[in-house]
Amino acid sequence: MLLPKSSCLGGPVTTRCDGNSCPMTDLATARLVLEALALEDARDLFAVRGDPEAMAFWDWPADPNPEATVAVVAEMIREASDGHAKYWALRLRSDRTFVGLCDLSEVRPGDSADIGFMLVRRHWDQGLAQEAVMAVLEYAREIGLRSVYARVHDQNERSVRLLKRVGFVAVQMIPHFEIRPGVFRSCRSFRKTF
Ligand SMILES: CC(C)(COP(=O)(O)OP(=O)(O)OC[C@H]1O[C@@H](n2cnc3c(N)ncnc32)[C@H](O)[C@@H]1OP(=O)(O)O)[C@@H](O)C(=O)NCCC(=O)NCCS
Repeated sequence: MLLPKSSCLGGPVTTRCDGNSCPMTDLATARLVLEALALEDARDLFAVRGDPEAMAFWDWPADPNPEATVAVVAEMIREASDGHAKYWALRLRSDRTFVGLCDLSEVRPGDSADIGFMLVRRHWDQGLAQEAVMAVLEYAREIGLRSVYARVHDQNERSVRLLKRVGFVAVQMIPHFEIRPGVFRSCRSFRKTF
């Protein structure tokens, strides 16, 4: 789930990942809509990715400026167009306020994928991440995945509580995981099996 988004490759990409090469399904919950991430979402996503507190347990430090987030989103859209990942922007159904991001990456058709999620801090503690994660898990099950994995930094208790609430179980302790070149953190791997 904590994919290294280091490369920040790719030029400006404006296509939504909704063409035939990358079918992307919008999802909905009681309070949220989940829609294919678009480059235009980068400014809103910077509210999370540029927030050092929200990024405390991410593999990479907070983005230094909105331009860095644009580059990361461009790379996410490229991955999605290759079919390797699915990224959803989360918005409130009530007024379409941007709430955060949820993704399936490393998609191994018929087998498994990794899940990731991040919310703008003012939307924490309302059960919104849980709602989004449950919708993405249901989608994963529907497309035939058998399990979904999540790797969390050891002290990311909010994420651990969320994962356990939706049925993930701990499968591995990874005491020295190299989160980025030369930087190691203790991590835990979780799995939800359908
Ligand atoms: C991880 C993250 C998404 C969790 O967000 P969150 O808001 O705590 O998660 P949830 O949506 O599950 O909300 C749960 C909390 O809302 C509370 N809540 C309030 N109203 C609720 C409702 N209607 N339904 C459910 N829960 C509700 C719950 O009591 C719960 O609090 P608790 O965990 O203290 O018991 C958020 O902390 C985040 O974006 N972190 C930064 C990025 C990150 O680390 N991502 C994960 C990398 S592995």
